[in-house]
Amino acid sequence: MIYLDNAATSFPKPPQVYRAMDEFFRHRAANPGRAGYRLSTEAEREVEGTRKILADLFGASEPERMIFTLNATDAINMALKGLLREGDHVVTSDLEHNSVTRPLRGLEKRGAISVTRVNASQEGILDPQAVKQAVGPQTRLIVITHASNVLGTIQPIKEIGRLAREKGLVFMVDAAQSAGVWPISVEDDLIDLLAFTGHKGLFGPPGTGGLYVGKRAEILPWREGGTGTDSESPIHPEEMPFRLEGGTPNFLGITGLKTGAEFISKTGMDNIRHHGRQLLMAILNGIKGDDRFILYGPSEPSDTKDRLPIVSLNIKGLEPSVAGGILDETYGIAARSGLHCAPLTHQCIGSFPQGTLRISPGYFNTEDDISQLTSALKEIASSVNAAAK
Ligand SMILES: Cc1ncc(COP(=O)(O)O)c(C=O)c1O
Repeated sequence: MIYLDNAATSFPKPPQVYRAMDEFFRHRAANPGRAGYRLSTEAEREVEGTRKILADLFGASEPERMIFTLNATDAINMALKGLLREGDHVVTSDLEHNSVTRPLRGLEKRGAISVTRVNASQEGILDPQAVKQAVGPQTRLIVITHASNVLGTIQPIKEIGRLAREKGLVFMVDAAQSAGVWPISVEDDLIDLLAFTGHKGLFGPPGTGGLYVGKRAEILPWREGGTGTDSESPIHPEEMPFRLEGGTPNFLGITGLKTGAEFISKTGMDNIRHHGRQLLMAILNGIKGDDRFILYGPSEPSDTKDRLPIVSLNIKGLEPSVAGGILDETYGIAARSGLHCAPLTHQCIGSFPQGTLRISPGYFNTEDDISQLTSALKEIASSVNAAAK
């Protein structure tokens, strides 16, 4: 099986991640910070060490502002519902995943907030000037995905961060696709809220993720309970990270996430990105100029500089779900078809409602995997042409 659905979740994980989780779960998995014995303090060190590694990875000087969540969706909901107040206006884009679009729509439908969705170009890139023009007197928040999960295009977050700061707005970035793969500095990019997931580019297990909460963003907690601190107090603690965390954390998952993040620093994010770019160029070069395919987003291999290895395409005359089924059953290649939880992006690029076939190689794929993929795609396209004659 050739796995090409790393935008959904990275697989396989580095072997160290499996080993570390197994070792921790068997021998050291005491409840972190809930007791004074050594095993518990060691488990706490594991959790706090992960917080520090993530803070370093994202250029945050205060690790306690890094909150563990279940995934990016959990982080985004925590941020949006904890930040937004009655009457607020939000600027966002049509490149967003449903994890941003749906909570905003829910709040909009209840009449609590209003939302302006800025359109990206057909290539899947946002213009910061268009974002600026969408800002109004009631705007509190700009929320933008760092990388489109349909096209892999990287958005100009630094420019948008700057304009948010100039206008006194909170700036939130959904880094579900880019965390661990693309450099992010919350301080340099002027990001107030950074949501990420652990199971994609960070090589952690599912059930991990986080939200960085900067000083300018006041998030009301919606999860209160035991923190292992100030137990005599009837009120949930105010200080970070406890303010937004409660209950036993997913310390097994956090151990896996830590090992994934360590793998990234050891391997070098630049090397990971470079490998992804090689695979992306191999896909684009493999089908470039073949008019049996529709390629979405920037299609020139030379345009791969600001892009993750994610390609959306269609074979003319074939539903993407059928193409995905043939790839799986006949060629043993796993790629995802459909809307990828981002219907507005497909409206923007002209592939709604059927969606696209999305190819997303990961660090453990090879150029040979890609050459098998492009041969398979061409054979499928030839059989469609032959059937049409
Ligand atoms: C851009 C983007 N945002 C958010 C999410 C949600 O991530 P999770 O399912 O881990 O919560 C995804 C997942 O595919 C995504 O691609």
